[in-house]
Order: sequence, then C-alpha cells, then structure tokens
Amino acid sequence: TTTAFAFLVAAYLIGSLSFAVIVSRLMGMADPRSYGSGNPGATNVLRSGKKLAAVLTLLGDGIKGWVAVALTQWLGPRYGLGEQAVGMAAIAVLVGHMWPVFFGFKGGKGVATAVGVLFGFNLWLALAAVATWLFMAVVVKISSLSALTAAVLAPVYAFFIVGPHSVYFGSSIIIAILVVHRHKSNLIKLLTGQEGKIGEKADGSA
Ligand code: G3P
Repeated sequence: TTTAFAFLVAAYLIGSLSFAVIVSRLMGMADPRSYGSGNPGATNVLRSGKKLAAVLTLLGDGIKGWVAVALTQWLGPRYGLGEQAVGMAAIAVLVGHMWPVFFGFKGGKGVATAVGVLFGFNLWLALAAVATWLFMAVVVKISSLSALTAAVLAPVYAFFIVGPHSVYFGSSIIIAILVVHRHKSNLIKLLTGQEGKIGEKADGSA
C-alpha cells in the first residue's frame, strides 16, 4: 500500500541522517570517512580522540533506529499497518544508515542503529545484544568483533525472546546479514591480525 511505502521511505530518510558526519561537521572536526577505518560510526569517530563526539554519534545513530521502529509501531496501526511494517521499517532505517541519500550513499556499518532498532522490538532482546557487545568489548577490546558477535547472536536471542513466528525474529536475521556484510573489511583485518583496539587513535598516538 501507499502508506506502508511512505513509512518505509520515512524510515530510510531517518536512517540516512549519519550522525558521525553531522556531529563531526557541527563540532568542526574532519569527516570520519577521511581517517581511521573511514567508517562514519561512533568507533571511528572515537579514533579522532574526541570522546564527546563519539558518544553523540552513538546516541544519534542509536536513537534514530529506535525512532523509526517506534514511529511505525505508534502510527502504523492508524493506517492498518501491523508488525510486518515495523519489521520492514527496521530494515529501511538500517539501509538508510548504510547507504545514506544525504551523504553520497557512503554510510556506516549499522551497529548502533541496529541496537536502537532492537530496543524498539523488545527491551530484553536489546539488553541481551548490548550485554553481548559489552562483554566482548571488555574481553577482546575490539569494536568490530564485539559487534559481529552481538549481530550473529541477536537472531538466536530473538528466537527465544520474541519467538520464531514473530516478524521481529525474521527482521533480526536480515539485520544480522546486513551488519555482517558491512563488516567485510573488518573480517579481513581480524583474520590477518590487523584490527585495532577500541580507542586507539587514528594517528597512532596514545
Ligand atoms: O560500529 C562499527 C564497528 O563495528 C567497526 O568500526 O571503524 O572499526 O571499522 P570500524
């Protein structure tokens, strides 16, 4: 239907707001796509050494994922849209973040936004994914490996928490595939032992 399409476009546009680029511009910093891993995300913004910018990026990218889902859950039923539209909006906001129309389609890897989406799906599902990321981050201190572990386990958690028949379970599988797909360069770095630790600066300083 037309309204379902309108919700998807809205979610895509919300996702296209790349907070790594927006926050960096507002704070007079370099475009995160020009240093470190080149990824517009909180992890790479942290490589600039500006912790506040990284936190704001994390929050902005996370909250937009939640907003896209919550908006469809809240307004969708008024237009006869149910969980299916919510699950699709979740994928649309991720697609917007990864291939943003406002920033030359050069977007991020979707970790913060996926977490925001999961918070919209189910609180316990989101907390399980966040706990996994944090546990891995403390143990291995590598952002990408922590994210990959959480992304792959999220559908497993969804299976038990929302159930295999829930749209959110199917949506979490597609989200995991998208997030892993965007971490190809990280997978190569991990396999060749070249992936850096969280907080290591782009210029190599301490
Ligand atoms: O959030 C993205 C993270 O998993 C990896 O980012 O910059 O280390 O490639 P980066």
